Amino acid sequence: MARPTHVIGNWKQHLLTEPAQALAQACVHAATHAPVEVAIAPTLVALPRCAPHCHPHSQLGLLAQDCAAQEQGAFTGEVGPAMLADVGALGAIVGHSERRSLLGEGDALVAAKTCALLSAGLRAVVCVGEPLDVREQGDHGRVVEAQLRASLNGALSVARDVRWQLVVAYEPVWAIGTGKTASPHDAQAMHAHLRSVLTNLAPELGGCALIYGGSVKPENAAALWEQPDIDGFLVGGASLDPAAFLAIVQACAA
Ligand code: PGA
Repeated sequence: MARPTHVIGNWKQHLLTEPAQALAQACVHAATHAPVEVAIAPTLVALPRCAPHCHPHSQLGLLAQDCAAQEQGAFTGEVGPAMLADVGALGAIVGHSERRSLLGEGDALVAAKTCALLSAGLRAVVCVGEPLDVREQGDHGRVVEAQLRASLNGALSVARDVRWQLVVAYEPVWAIGTGKTASPHDAQAMHAHLRSVLTNLAPELGGCALIYGGSVKPENAAALWEQPDIDGFLVGGASLDPAAFLAIVQACAA
């Protein structure tokens, strides 16, 4: 069975609600008859403004950038899976390296958030990736494998349809927002490694989408997409430009 494929725009902490809505509207075109599933991840407060342009009104998926590990309760500032679904989100990104490094999120919390999303029937886009010093020491395979295993702890047993629900994003930290991209060869090597880790954990996990992120642009998307274990992209900066986002989606047509 062919693996699912995705291009996801991570808008990070950008755009007030009005420009966010306009960008969502512009992205509908990229998603229509696209060769991959296309989704956007606006800020939490922009989700309701973007939702009327997204699934089920169009082929554009809507994701949040984070999700609470708890369903509900006395957790000031948190927003749980059912609340995200209530405003139209299909799921959320979890464990982004900015949250891990700037906000101190660890693998156990990422796993709890992943489980919360999966058990609510939503999608979790689980991010992993190594910092520069780890890459320079040549320890990236071991470090990212450990991060992935720990971030998925308990996930398989709570997922309803793991192939649809779980997306793993490999994002080398040194490539995020820096203009430096992993070479297609290096990205493929890590994806092949992570694919075998997933398959060994459970055969159905090996069928999940494994997408790449880190300075993906129209200029480098096609060469990355050609790699056999790259099933799409998590796009930051370039996703704020609808023409660049469209070009990245179209690079996945070949
Ligand atoms: P970038 O961000 O494309 O701007 O490098 C990717 C990400 O953080 O998801």
